Amino acid sequence: MCGIVGLVGNTAASPRLVEGLRRLEYRGYDSAGIATLSNSKIDICRAEGKLINLEERIKETPLSGNIGIGHTRWATHGAPSVLNAHPHSTKSVAVVHNGIIENFSSLRSMLKAEGHEFISDTDSEVIPKLIHHLLEQGYKPIEAVASALKRLEGAFALGIIFAGHEQLLIGARRGSPLAIGSHEDESFLASDAFAMAPFTRRISYLEEGDWAVLRPGVTEVFDSSDRAVSRTFQETDYNLDIAGKAGYQHFMEKEIHEQPRVIRDTLNTYYNSAAGKIFLPNDNKELEKLDQLSIVACGTSFYAGLTARYWIEGIARVPTIVDIASEFRYLESPLKENGTALFISQSGETADTLAALRFAKSQQQKIVSVVNVTESTMARESNIVMPTRAGIEIGVASTKAFTTQLVTLACFSIALARKRGAISNKEEVRLTNVLESLPELASKVLAQNQSFIEISAELSEVETVLYLGRGSSYPIALEGALKLKEISYIHAEGYAAGEMKHGPIALIEKNTPVIFIAPSGPLFEKTASNIQEAAARGARIILISDKKGITALNELIHIAFEMPEVDEFVAPILYTIPIQLLAYYTAVSRGTDVDQPRNLAKSVTVE
Ligand code: AGP
Repeated sequence: MCGIVGLVGNTAASPRLVEGLRRLEYRGYDSAGIATLSNSKIDICRAEGKLINLEERIKETPLSGNIGIGHTRWATHGAPSVLNAHPHSTKSVAVVHNGIIENFSSLRSMLKAEGHEFISDTDSEVIPKLIHHLLEQGYKPIEAVASALKRLEGAFALGIIFAGHEQLLIGARRGSPLAIGSHEDESFLASDAFAMAPFTRRISYLEEGDWAVLRPGVTEVFDSSDRAVSRTFQETDYNLDIAGKAGYQHFMEKEIHEQPRVIRDTLNTYYNSAAGKIFLPNDNKELEKLDQLSIVACGTSFYAGLTARYWIEGIARVPTIVDIASEFRYLESPLKENGTALFISQSGETADTLAALRFAKSQQQKIVSVVNVTESTMARESNIVMPTRAGIEIGVASTKAFTTQLVTLACFSIALARKRGAISNKEEVRLTNVLESLPELASKVLAQNQSFIEISAELSEVETVLYLGRGSSYPIALEGALKLKEISYIHAEGYAAGEMKHGPIALIEKNTPVIFIAPSGPLFEKTASNIQEAAARGARIILISDKKGITALNELIHIAFEMPEVDEFVAPILYTIPIQLLAYYTAVSRGTDVDQPRNLAKSVTVE
């Protein structure tokens, strides 16, 4: 999704804006640009495609000045092109924008009628034109922005500079995240703290509706009613070295291999070693009486929710519904009075999930969120925050964020079950021990890395792949198909194994790869029948199972990945690793852009 960065200080802005943009690349983008003020005049450089193209252009025509704004654009309104790339400007003001201006059409007509010309297809271009229009009417820059913000509908994070004002940078947020920071005599803004990490660790995330006036070393914040407000600043602990992939070829590969450690870190967040028990962050009485839970999320996080349902219903015995945020937010479901809704999000900024959270809040629900970015809007708007400890995830395809979400949700289920008296002490100890064994088991699976390379080369040649699983392996089948689609661009379908004969079986012809996620256990025999059915139709059976499962079906298998024997409870967490490796090596074999796959954004902050 679009990323913005801005700074005002006493040293050259252009190289630092590019450095900030590099740290926003992971969000996904298709063009980039910067604007600076040199001799009080706005200078702009924009390029289609990757940042390297922008850098080439800057080399040819350097931009001077100590104040500037930068943008990575993920196209919504208008194709990726230089004309549509940000910053958008007039001779007096330049703007970078993340979000969507929903009333751009009426604003554009009004401004056109006033004689303003438009050169791009974007919704964003109305912002500088509107501010310019207000400046022409005699408003001062700060007043013009305050007034323009009131006329904008939709979502935005903005960075704004003005010709002739070398010490004035304005930021604003509504719906899209924006952080500000300062260090000595410089001030900064960016879509996230990570982009600002080389310049300052002292940051503050603006609240919804806030706008900020930044001057060298000085920041002032105003709320949506234009009242001066004070916002808390905090020290971030982001690692500066993102260039290093620790010897791995891609961030995604590095992140897959970080899983034993981050699973351990996440477990340690909830496990109290003195008590030998798992606890939730706040001891929340209401959860004891919970009679229904709504889980809402998007994409991979939604699959974490689907998996959690097996635990929350099976272990804590709480009826649970799981919904996609983009549907839930418009369903207007009659939620139980004083009920609880749980939202899952790596970024904590996904527009649909955030809107669903706000809807649930408006219905007096208690809000629990499972988030990786603890400074995010979702975390700030929740009653109970359950952090995942994945650390920053750069690869657009979620890997360690997913497994740590699962670990967090498994902990939630155990703690909830105890609160509600749904679990014996003995069973609780057993499940907790099983969770504790995960990091070591994950390392064992990762050590078999090599065996995924061969089959991935084979998969890279096919047009379609089916992923099937039963019970808690079903969401992992969905996640497997999503991972393959996202980074290798191969068509893949994930299905509940029992549903195969109700439709997708028609896709199977000779040699169609069908990947079964089937740990031996109570549902194995049922899945084995589906494997028979697929094999009988000529499918190339790829089985991910343990020794027992593989031995039972040896005759039918084209290739098998042997997993360590594992308790059914944590099987979905462990069985995620092979499907990640399969997708990763298939994409590598196809030579795709693994960390920044086409058309995708890391955090989807528009509807
Ligand atoms: C996962 O690989 C995806 N890129 C995507 O589905 C992601 O999980 C989804 O956009 C939700 O994001 P969030 O967890 O940040 O809310």
